[in-house]
Amino acid sequence: MLTDSFPDPVLYDDWHVVACADDLKENQLLKVHLLGEAVVLWRCDRQVLAWRDRCPHRGVPLSSGRIENGCVVCPYHGFVFDRTGNCIHVPANPALTSVAQNSQVYNYAVQERYGYIWIALGEPQHQVPIFWEWHQPDFVSFNCGPYVINSSPLRVVENFTDFAHLPHTHAGLLGSSEFPEISDYAVTVDEAGITASDVRLHQPNPEGTGAARDVSYLCQIRRPLVAYFTKGDGTDQFSMFLAVTPVEELRSIAWLGIARNYALEVDNAELEAFQNHLMSQDIPMVESQRPQRLPLDLQAEFHVPADRLAVAYRKWLKQLGLQFGAC
Ligand code: FES
Ligand SMILES: [Fe+2]
Repeated sequence: MLTDSFPDPVLYDDWHVVACADDLKENQLLKVHLLGEAVVLWRCDRQVLAWRDRCPHRGVPLSSGRIENGCVVCPYHGFVFDRTGNCIHVPANPALTSVAQNSQVYNYAVQERYGYIWIALGEPQHQVPIFWEWHQPDFVSFNCGPYVINSSPLRVVENFTDFAHLPHTHAGLLGSSEFPEISDYAVTVDEAGITASDVRLHQPNPEGTGAARDVSYLCQIRRPLVAYFTKGDGTDQFSMFLAVTPVEELRSIAWLGIARNYALEVDNAELEAFQNHLMSQDIPMVESQRPQRLPLDLQAEFHVPADRLAVAYRKWLKQLGLQFGAC
């Protein structure tokens, strides 16, 4: 098992969603967790800042402090840190003009994309994957989640990209026991990740609008914890991305971004309720899987042709050297 002192380099140097942008208000310190690390988020003049949630003086969480005049005030001894993380005031020694070098709060890379706040604990080696539908004028986009799942984040991604469970776990909605067969599909692996193309199945109620249709999925795993699919019939397109926060090895938070170019009159809240229902069907399955960590040894579980994407995912993770949430 990994510990704080041995962070997974693949995930450490990658972008992760840690919060919904709307949940971070001005003058608020928001505590989140990523890869076992506590992080405090706050906004200063619309800029989002992500800091290690530990006062460099005596280790109290800065998230339990307050924001004053564009600075963070630690609740323990009242030291004041400006937006760059510099300690600019020590109440016990007000004349002090220069404090020790290690008085700087540790800053993380942060950006706001697709309605979420993404941070990287280390040096990000890739960009946040592009979800091009999000900004298209003929698409309506919204966020769904968070969904807390007590399992490995890798299990969560694999579930999101598993077609064969649709006619069973989501019977009557995303599939039907009368049409359980998954068409043969191709999988390719390149710089952009893994792509499964033209996965066809019949869905009785694919988006919660009650309309049945035959759909073809294009599904991509773009980073170890970011996946995407788009499905449609050539005209109507429904796209979704999933980003999973690796809170701890066996504690994950799933966030969804959804974009569609049809049924625009349907309330997003209705589609969100439908999505919540689907997740309530997925979560017990994922939480009950054993082992909880995803086995990267292909001999540890058996696979069928419909699992082609999962097999490619496991191989890819192994090749990347990913360890967190894997066994
Ligand atoms: S612990 Fe934060 S000011 Fe002392
Ligand atoms: Fe599912």
